[in-house]
Amino acid sequence: MKSLFDLKFVFVVGKGGVGKSSVSAALAVAAAARGKRVLVAMCNSKERLSYLLETPPIGSAIRNVLPNLDAVNMEPAAALEEYGMLILKVRALYKLVFENRFVSGFLHGTPGIDAWAMLGKAQYHAFEQDEDGHNRYDMVIVDAPATGHGLELLRVPRVIVDVAPPGLLRREAERAWQLFSDPTRAGVLLVTIPEDMPTSETLELYAAVRDELHLPVCGLVVNQMRKVLFKPAELPVLRRLRELLSAPSALRPLAIAGHARAEREAAQAACLTRLQAGIPGPHLHLPLTLIHDFRRSEVEVLAGALGDAVSGAS
Ligand SMILES: Nc1ncnc2c1ncn2[C@@H]1O[C@H](COP(=O)(O)OP(=O)(O)OP(=O)(O)O)[C@@H](O)[C@H]1O
Ligand SMILES: [Mg+2]
Repeated sequence: MKSLFDLKFVFVVGKGGVGKSSVSAALAVAAAARGKRVLVAMCNSKERLSYLLETPPIGSAIRNVLPNLDAVNMEPAAALEEYGMLILKVRALYKLVFENRFVSGFLHGTPGIDAWAMLGKAQYHAFEQDEDGHNRYDMVIVDAPATGHGLELLRVPRVIVDVAPPGLLRREAERAWQLFSDPTRAGVLLVTIPEDMPTSETLELYAAVRDELHLPVCGLVVNQMRKVLFKPAELPVLRRLRELLSAPSALRPLAIAGHARAEREAAQAACLTRLQAGIPGPHLHLPLTLIHDFRRSEVEVLAGALGDAVSGAS
């Protein structure tokens, strides 16, 4: 099986707040450290990557943020214009095609055209070549919007293939769909945290990606994993200890904390069992870091853990 680092196009998707942007950043840093030229494409988001990587803000124009690592925050109108220009090359032609009232009427009437503008641009960069015919990027990472919108984004090229009349737009969407559905080149990277609701949502997301979209899933990242301190058999012991220490005493807070921790670990283990049963591997576990201001050094910790998890899984 191909390693995550060999893929050309990775969609990072998951429920809001589970760590998609942090995982995208960690994957990008880990891939760049392996000599891959990487583009992180954010989807019109409240851009946090520059904060995470401690670099200047990232806007709608591609900028280099670290060696081997470029980033862009795609904004639909700018992306559509830029993408239109990229494929048509000449501004006059762009104006003729994209500002033509039939074409622009069609574009505005097409569901998901904003999403396509971003996705089209992202996939364009996956194929982009320099003057010497070398690919500009080895890997494009799309930091997708949270679950529902992320699915909508993935659905778009399929819709365009189905509804657009033959022509440039449809050819581009077909090329994108071929890339996205090829497990040797592309994959959806699911991100979750080991808690009940996100686990349920991730199982549903996986089913939608597999059964409805028929897109390859290249892995599941379980982010914010707590270190396991207690064995399952110790949970009832800790529960009993807490009962025994019900009267105020110096040891009582310790018993409460120990029991709470063991409960959390048991809940985490139950989530991992559900994920294991529902989603085929590789499952990549990333640690919960306890630093309040999560920034570059923590991203590097996650990048290291991701690298280890990928090697361990292959
Ligand atoms: N492994 C981790 N350990 C500790 N904190 C983490 C970890 N991963 C992410 N976080 C924190 O969780 C929060 C959410 O992370 P992030 O912004 O990456 O999530 P997201 O899925 O991209 O969110 P959104 O859906 O809003 O785009 C951030 O404050 C981040 O610092
Ligand atoms: Mg995000």
